[in-house]
Amino acid sequence: MPSYTKYAAAALAVALPFCSAQTYTSCNPLNNTCSADTGLATYTFSTDFTTGNSSLANWTITDGTIEFGSDGAEFIIAERYDAPTIETDFYFFFGEVEVKMKSANGTGIVSSIVFLSDDLDEIDWEALGAYDDEIETNYFGKDNTTSYDRATYPSVTTPAEEFHTYTIIWTEEKLEWLIDGTLVRTLEYDSAVDGRNYPQTPMRVKLGIWAGGDPSESEGTIEWAGGEVDYDDVPFTMYVESVKIINYNPAETYTYTGHTGSYESIVLSNSTTNSTVSSSSSSNSSSSSSTSSSSTTSTSSNSSSTSSVAVSAASMSSVYLTPALVLALVAGLMQL
Ligand SMILES: *[C@@H]1O[C@H](CO)[C@@H](O)[C@H](O)[C@H]1NC(C)=O
Ligand SMILES: *[C@@H]1O[C@H](CO)[C@@H](O)[C@H](O)[C@H]1NC(C)=O
Ligand SMILES: *[C@@H]1O[C@H](CO)[C@@H](O)[C@H](O)[C@H]1NC(C)=O
Ligand SMILES: *[C@@H]1O[C@H](CO)[C@@H](O)[C@H](O)[C@H]1NC(C)=O
Ligand SMILES: *[C@@H]1O[C@H](CO)[C@@H](O)[C@H](O)[C@H]1NC(C)=O
Ligand SMILES: *[C@@H]1O[C@H](CO)[C@@H](O)[C@H](O)[C@H]1NC(C)=O
Ligand SMILES: *[C@@H]1O[C@H](CO)[C@@H](O)[C@H](O)[C@H]1NC(C)=O
Ligand SMILES: *[C@@H]1O[C@H](CO)[C@@H](O)[C@H](O)[C@H]1NC(C)=O
Ligand SMILES: *[C@@H]1O[C@H](CO)[C@@H](O)[C@H](O)[C@H]1NC(C)=O
Repeated sequence: MPSYTKYAAAALAVALPFCSAQTYTSCNPLNNTCSADTGLATYTFSTDFTTGNSSLANWTITDGTIEFGSDGAEFIIAERYDAPTIETDFYFFFGEVEVKMKSANGTGIVSSIVFLSDDLDEIDWEALGAYDDEIETNYFGKDNTTSYDRATYPSVTTPAEEFHTYTIIWTEEKLEWLIDGTLVRTLEYDSAVDGRNYPQTPMRVKLGIWAGGDPSESEGTIEWAGGEVDYDDVPFTMYVESVKIINYNPAETYTYTGHTGSYESIVLSNSTTNSTVSSSSSSNSSSSSSTSSSSTTSTSSNSSSTSSVAVSAASMSSVYLTPALVLALVAGLMQL
């Protein structure tokens, strides 16, 4: 069964979540007591998928199979219902993620780079194969899908024909999306319903491809995806060359305390220093101040034992102007 759980449920409702099909949580800390998340204990982590299947060492395949070639990992839709997807075995908690991707061609095909937390905070890049000059950015806070004006569609040159570097820089204060090093979107904490819709809990990285334009999808989803998939055109392939992650709060585990889903409620165990030195050689890692010029927020980096993240709430008050509804989206909703 492909992971269409959320879509299956959404099809019954009028409102549609225009996020990826990979959104799912096995335990939602907002109303459950969940086991701790495994953290990325090192400050940096990288995967070079051109090295073949051994590069999946720190990833889990959650759907389908992954092929490897000179362009890296290949996520292939070879037939209907294929939706190969992988996710990191660990979570990271604020930081930077850089993905080199060549998205899949094909009407209705979605190549997605998703960061997802246990309480369904979500940060997205979604390349729609129907369009060769743009990519979608999106985000969700705590699975709040009541409004669909969060997506933007920055320009990118033929994303299905060439590799581009898609980067997210995620802090307590703002989220930035960059393409090939150029900032294309900024989301301030306060502008996301005073932070309530702001993604702020430890995330896994998920990479995958799926058919938003499958005939089984709702009308709105198919419209959003750019039209119905023509399976005569298979295979559709998304390529990922590499992934680089910087974890601003490296730790062995992340635990939600309470049910607010706020970043202040996340407790780190065995957090390590925030430096470029990996934990495996941490005997000489010093405090973050020696390697990081940024010290605008104080977190638990100086702690080597369990402690909560004591970050003062983002104080920025600038207003983020919500981007206009995208035409395709409007068209999709008007059909409902
Ligand atoms: C628990 O959270 C899930 C996911 O957000 C939600 O579907 C469910 O309604 C919640 N249950 C309660 C009792 O709040
Ligand atoms: C990688 O591929 C080789 C050869 O096909 C296979 O023997 C091995 O089990 C694979 N390793 C993983 C981690 O999938
Ligand atoms: C990656 O996987 C290897 C082999 O399983 C493991 O030793 C290592 O700790 C993992 N690294 C991270 C950052 O998860
Ligand atoms: C993408 O698909 C379109 C429509 O089928 C086709 O015209 C175009 O050549 C394809 N581009 C690539 C790079 O495969
Ligand atoms: C969900 O988001 C909408 C705006 O998109 C906001 O008006 C609403 O208050 C949010 N709900 C919660 C529970 O935060
Ligand atoms: C934290 O580190 C201590 C000492 O190295 C170790 O005994 C303990 O198992 C670690 N705890 C976790 C949750 O990794
Ligand atoms: C740690 O690194 C500093 C700066 O590079 C160096 O001066 C010092 O000798 C190192 N200490 C150890 C124990 O390696
Ligand atoms: C780690 O460094 C980044 C900037 O490089 C900073 O934003 C983050 O708050 C730091 N984290 C900790 C725990 O000091
Ligand atoms: C750790 O950081 C906190 C918050 O910035 C600070 O109050 C505390 O004194 C620091 N502790 C050490 C040992 O540096």
